[in-house]
Amino acid sequence: MKKEITLHDKTFIPFIDKAAISAQITRIAQEINRDYSQKKPLLVGILNGSILFFSDLLKQLEIDCEVAFLRVSSYKGTETTGNVKKVLGLDKNIENTEVIVVEDIVDTGITLENIINDLASNSPKSIKVATLLFKPKAYTKNYPIDYVGFEVGNEFLVGFGLDYNEIGRNLDELYIIKEPMLNIILFGPPGAGKGTQSELIQEKFNLTHLSTGDMFRFHMKNDTELGKKAKEYMEAGNLVPDQLVIDMIDAKLSESHDTKGFIFDGFPRTTEQATALDELLAKKGWEIAKMVSLEVEEDELVKRLLLRGKDSGRKDDQDESIIRNRMAVYNKETAPLKDFYSNQGKHIGVDGIGSIEEINERINAAIS
Ligand code: IMP
Ligand code: MG
Repeated sequence: MKKEITLHDKTFIPFIDKAAISAQITRIAQEINRDYSQKKPLLVGILNGSILFFSDLLKQLEIDCEVAFLRVSSYKGTETTGNVKKVLGLDKNIENTEVIVVEDIVDTGITLENIINDLASNSPKSIKVATLLFKPKAYTKNYPIDYVGFEVGNEFLVGFGLDYNEIGRNLDELYIIKEPMLNIILFGPPGAGKGTQSELIQEKFNLTHLSTGDMFRFHMKNDTELGKKAKEYMEAGNLVPDQLVIDMIDAKLSESHDTKGFIFDGFPRTTEQATALDELLAKKGWEIAKMVSLEVEEDELVKRLLLRGKDSGRKDDQDESIIRNRMAVYNKETAPLKDFYSNQGKHIGVDGIGSIEEINERINAAIS
C-alpha cells in the first residue's frame, strides 16, 4: 500500500489492506451461500460505492441469484447531508423476492433506511443487508445489518468503492483520513514536573490531557465495566493488564471530539504498551508526533521530592531510599521507550532544570 495519498485537499493513510478485505468478503459470501442455499435472492447493489464489494461478493456466490442496482446520493465532502436523493430507481419487480441490499458502508443509516422503506413498499418476501463497512457509533437506526465486513470508527474512509468528492473509488484497498493531530507523550521521572507542564501545553495547543492515573480513578468511581475489571486486578494486588489500559484509552480517545491532539502522561510505560498505542492511534488515522522527555538529574529530583514530601505529607516522597528506588524503576522502564521513539525519530530530550516558564518554553519549541 502507498504510505500516504492525497485526494483533493486531504491526506489519507493505509487502513485495511487487500488481503484483509478479501478475507471478509469471502466470509460473507460463505454465509450467504449457506443462508440462501435453497433460495434465489436478488442482490441490490447501491451505486456508486458498492461496485467493488458487489463484484467481489458476486463472484464467490455459488447460489442462483439475480442482480439489480439502485443509485442514491447523500454525502458531500466528508459530511453526510442526511438528505437522501434517489437518482436511479429499480427496474425490477421485487414482489415476493428475497432481497439482499449490498452497501459499501452504513454510517448513520439514513440512506439505508430510505432504501429499505422504498424496497419494502414493493412487497418483497424478505430484505437483508450486507455491507462491507459499518460505523456502529454513528448508526442511529434499529434496522439489523445482517452481514458486516468490518465494524469501523467514525473516521472518514476512502478506497474500494468509497469516494471523497467522487475520487478514490478505484483504490483497491481502504485508506483512512489523516487528521492533523498533535499527540504528545510527556515523559519524565517522578518530580520532573510533568503534571505542571501538561497543564500548560494543554491550554496553549488545545490538547486533551490523558493521565492513566486519573482515568483509572474515574472508571472505578463511576463503576464502569472497565472500572470493575481494573478493580478486580488492583484489589488482588496485581497489575492491571496492558489490554485493559489500552481499552480505557481507546474509550477516551473516541469520546474526545474537537480536540487538537492528546498529551499522554504516565503512559505508555513499556515497549508493549507503546506498540499497542501506535496500533490504536493508527486505527484512527493518527500517530504520536513527539515523545518529550523531561531530563532532570537524580540528585535534583530527590531534593525536589523531599521538599514536596514535607509540604504534601506524601509518604513516598519522604523517604530517600524509596525515592531512589522509584528512580531506578523509572530508569529501567523508560530507557527502552526512549529507544523505541528515537527509532521513529520522535524522541526529544528537554532540559527540565529551570523555572516553570523556562521549561515550558523549551517544551513549546520542541513540539511546535
Ligand atoms: P448514511 O446515510 O449516513 O448511512 O451514509 C451512507 C453513505 O454515506 C454511504 O453509502 C457512503 O456513500 C457515504 N459514507 C459514509 N461514510 C463514509 C466514509 O467514511 N467514506 C466515504 N463515504 C462514506
Ligand atoms: Mg453509498
